[in-house]
Amino acid sequence: MSDVFVELCEVGPRDGLQNEKRIVSVADKLRFIDLLACAGFREIEATSFVSPKWVPQLGDAEEVLPQAMAAHPETLFSVLVPNEKGLERALACGARKVSVFTAASEGFARKNINASIRESIDRFIPVVRRAHDAGIPVRGYVSCVVACPYDGPIAPSVVRDTCAMLAEIGVDELDLGDTIGVAFPDDIARVVEVCATIRPVDQLVLHLHDTQHRALLCAERALAMGVRRFDGSAGGIGGCPYAPGASGNISTDALAALCEARGYSTSIDREALTRAAAFIAGVLAAP
Ligand code: HMG
Ligand code: MG
Repeated sequence: MSDVFVELCEVGPRDGLQNEKRIVSVADKLRFIDLLACAGFREIEATSFVSPKWVPQLGDAEEVLPQAMAAHPETLFSVLVPNEKGLERALACGARKVSVFTAASEGFARKNINASIRESIDRFIPVVRRAHDAGIPVRGYVSCVVACPYDGPIAPSVVRDTCAMLAEIGVDELDLGDTIGVAFPDDIARVVEVCATIRPVDQLVLHLHDTQHRALLCAERALAMGVRRFDGSAGGIGGCPYAPGASGNISTDALAALCEARGYSTSIDREALTRAAAFIAGVLAAP
């Protein structure tokens, strides 16, 4: 094992389940989260406090988060919040980390959060301030860092400018999303390079979807450039309901295997992760 550690954040309970036609029961979500925590993830994105009219699949966030936290006090459970209302709901449940989310494309921002990029940043200002007052860190997602399902290719300079706006309002962690999973390694290299002017490369998070089956190649390039934090989902489940055609996240097992093969260490027990992936695949495939 190398002493270079790579942090893998499991987003399956949120990104994985938000796009499923079926609404997974609270009990099955908690079991999935339990298996993921036992697989060694130090951070798990548990759910979203978004409008349940927009994402009914995660309308049970008030039930899921407190029970997950009680069962695994050692695990950091992060949650998506789109606005102050979401933050209030998350804080009422005891959240210890929240994530705001915008995009590097106007088209996706409008479809996903009903706001322009600038409006979304303005909306996040009180969210970040109140989260920090409560002593909790804020992740800032930038979606569509390579291409948008509505606006087409996205220039790296726009990604950098969006990251700069998030950094300016005090967001602690920048997470770069290839939302529709179309990136080539060179695209990711360009995005990482420009965003590393805003935050050190080992503090950036890369959030790949695997629609074109190149996500692992992209992760490999990012690792070689010094990226040390990646999101993924068990079994590669997921997608965004407002990104038509996009498939699931890169699988956390594939990421863990890549790290292992390249000599990096992670906190993941891959056998246990396989059990988590098999469990949720069974739930989603059940008649
Ligand atoms: P809106 O309709 O413009 O909001 O939606 P609004 O402020 O006008 O409120 C409309 C109604 O929603 C009101 O209720 C509000 O109270 C309620 P009504 O008066 O009609 O009964 N409402 C809420 N309820 C509960 N919790 C809240 C909340 N906010 C408002 N937080 C809004 C704007 C942002 C709310 C909506 O667009 C939304 O919830 N969008 C979220 C969509 C989403 O979750 N997308 C998937 C996650 S992002 C993603 O997957 C990408 C990522 O993985 C990275 C990547 O892959 O690139 C992160
Ligand atoms: Mg995503």
